[in-house]
Amino acid sequence: MSRDPHNKKPAATRFVNGASEVLTCAPGAADLVGRIPGGAVAMAGDRILAVGSDSEVAAACDLSGAERIDAGGGIVIPGFVDCHTHLIFPGSRVAEYSARVTGAGPEDLKNLGIPTGIPATVRMMENASQDELIESALERLGHMLRFGTTTVESKSGYGLSVKGELRMLEINRRLQNDQFIDVVSTFLGAHEFPEDRSRERYVEEIIKEQIPAVVEAELAEFNDVFCDEGYYTVGESRRILEAGLEKGLKAKIHTDEYSHMGGSKLAAELKAVSADHLNYTDDDEFALLRDAGVIGVVMPGLDFAVGHSRPFNARAMMDAGMILALATDLCPGCWLESMPFVIQLACRLYRFSPAEALRAGTYGAALALNREKEIGSLEPGKRADIAIFDLPQYQDLAYRLGRSGARTVIAAGNVVHTAASQG
Ligand code: NIG
Ligand code: FE
Repeated sequence: MSRDPHNKKPAATRFVNGASEVLTCAPGAADLVGRIPGGAVAMAGDRILAVGSDSEVAAACDLSGAERIDAGGGIVIPGFVDCHTHLIFPGSRVAEYSARVTGAGPEDLKNLGIPTGIPATVRMMENASQDELIESALERLGHMLRFGTTTVESKSGYGLSVKGELRMLEINRRLQNDQFIDVVSTFLGAHEFPEDRSRERYVEEIIKEQIPAVVEAELAEFNDVFCDEGYYTVGESRRILEAGLEKGLKAKIHTDEYSHMGGSKLAAELKAVSADHLNYTDDDEFALLRDAGVIGVVMPGLDFAVGHSRPFNARAMMDAGMILALATDLCPGCWLESMPFVIQLACRLYRFSPAEALRAGTYGAALALNREKEIGSLEPGKRADIAIFDLPQYQDLAYRLGRSGARTVIAAGNVVHTAASQG
């Protein structure tokens, strides 16, 4: 082919090569992960310009002025999308966790004087300073970034008042500006019931005051409810999610985590973006969720951290054709920042293949945040969010347990983390 001087190739600003393999996780990939042996990724500014073999990338763009990032024989994957977290919380519940692991039940914890569950965190929240909340969330985000996560969904839900919920969502906005991970904001006023008002009054407050205030200040994209025994009923959840939908907040739901109340049917009916947990969901509801295009978000770390007696059945969900996403569910009850650890649990305990797990933590999770056009796979035009791990093949993400900090993390085209020493 003769070179056409008028048809100049687009210039790359940076490119990654020297990989064992690039995993695009692109939607159409027959192997789910879009494996390219060797492989390279070129970027222009914050966007991906080209992905393919070294020669394909060199043919597609001008690399002459571009900075080279050496993958060092490791794997190159899309940055992880952690699509369900309770990132912002004060202090910890380590005393509760430590007692529970040896078998302490609710009565024992009460006798020991250890405050438990969401109400304990809500009480701590009331006395927490803004600095403490921001600093501790930043610290956790730093760990998440080092484990290769470039997008994190962050829910409110420990405020349980107009002021308290807005405060958490305002911190989301602040975090978005103060560090490199992209923060997606979710309103979860319906996480628990406050101790000082009636249930009915609080549901009215969510619908008439909290949702309008959140929308007015443009502080969230999603509206979530905890629809489960002891929490919100299907009727209450419906009212709250519909009130959000009317005002443009997309629906998410925590459901079927501890009981089977019909939250999955509601998610399908409202065409929620995702239904999360699904431990008690019936097989016939998997088809409903699939047909409604609801993404199933499953969280092996949470089931592990609470010693769940009925773990979710991922294989049955996949056999029914549901699209699944993986997330940490980082919260005071499940202090988990690592998506590689989530993948390790998903594979060994919940029978995901390594390919299914990698896809669920990237493209699947992007779908669960309605961001599949922007992130979750390595494709030209998408944001250049990339993680590189010192591993010979992607299956080693699942296989090498607890050894999984990223070598390099690129967020929106910038190198934002490099491991101090390479093993
Ligand atoms: O996803 N289910 C509700 N919320 C969290 C737990 C939050 C907490 O323990 O503080 C969850 O399991
Ligand atoms: Fe949760």
